[in-house]
Amino acid sequence: VSPCLFKYQNKNFLVKDKLRPADLDALQHFEIHPTDIFLVTYPKSGTAWMQQILVQIMDAANPDWAEDATNRTTVPWLEERTMDNPSRERPDPRIFGSHLPPNMLPLGVKAKQIKVVYVWRNPKDILVSFYHFAHSWVLLDIPQSFEDFFQQFLDGNVYMGSWFDHVQEYQNARDQLNIHFVQYENMLKDLRGEVVKLCAFLERDLTDEVIDHVVETSTFKSMKTNPKANYKDLVETGRYRTETMRKGKAGDWKNFFTVAQNEHFDNVFKEKMSNLPLTCIWE
Ligand code: PPS
Repeated sequence: VSPCLFKYQNKNFLVKDKLRPADLDALQHFEIHPTDIFLVTYPKSGTAWMQQILVQIMDAANPDWAEDATNRTTVPWLEERTMDNPSRERPDPRIFGSHLPPNMLPLGVKAKQIKVVYVWRNPKDILVSFYHFAHSWVLLDIPQSFEDFFQQFLDGNVYMGSWFDHVQEYQNARDQLNIHFVQYENMLKDLRGEVVKLCAFLERDLTDEVIDHVVETSTFKSMKTNPKANYKDLVETGRYRTETMRKGKAGDWKNFFTVAQNEHFDNVFKEKMSNLPLTCIWE
């Protein structure tokens, strides 16, 4: 794997992060409450977007739930720091974000059948978003070229490992977990419809007005100027070099892939994902 990464249980973690295998093992015993919600994604699939939606839904159902904090504080990252992270001391109902595969989640996630929201996205757009992110996040190595990064992504030689494995692992775990799959492209197409489905899964009964508010505050345009949602504080403190709210579109891969790269990607996709019942609206 590339110098910024170390491999553990077939997933790639960051050398410059404080997290080590023992911390990851310890997370298995992180205490889960029955009302906890997990937001799980492969990187660049729409994590910040779903964070914003969940925060708005939870805040509407539990006034003052989000307080005056950034979404990153309100939805703490499970594996970002060690278990003594004080930001985890939030009142119930809690939401955690994670990129971990199902077998590395806290055991209570399955045992207590807590709600898991898994967001996934066209991997071609993830690749392009990730390529830009590798130039932005100081913990990652800047790719030599798009071609190099393209191959690294297909080889799973990127932060968190293979997209193909991640999606397969969650699809295979769907009967064991209480999991709701949301596709990024469906949110772009019909955000309100996806929010309504999400509320049903979360058993949060919101009025039409509140749902409208959730939708309005979760568009790319309104999130981009919302300091609680746009992660700009990380640019200001030097952890990101550029904004993570970059384009927020489907199909940007067409501006980066060559015809040959696209054919190659499609072949790898067919080979690796042939056994999955994927219904996609990818262009
Ligand atoms: S991370 O770093 O893994 O947490 O990144 P993640 O948040 O998963 O993904 C970042 C991409 O999501 C886009 N984004 C959105 N798209 C549409 N609508 C909204 N509201 C929205 N919010 C974030 C963000 O722009 C990144 O995609 P790209 O393609 O790079 O623009």
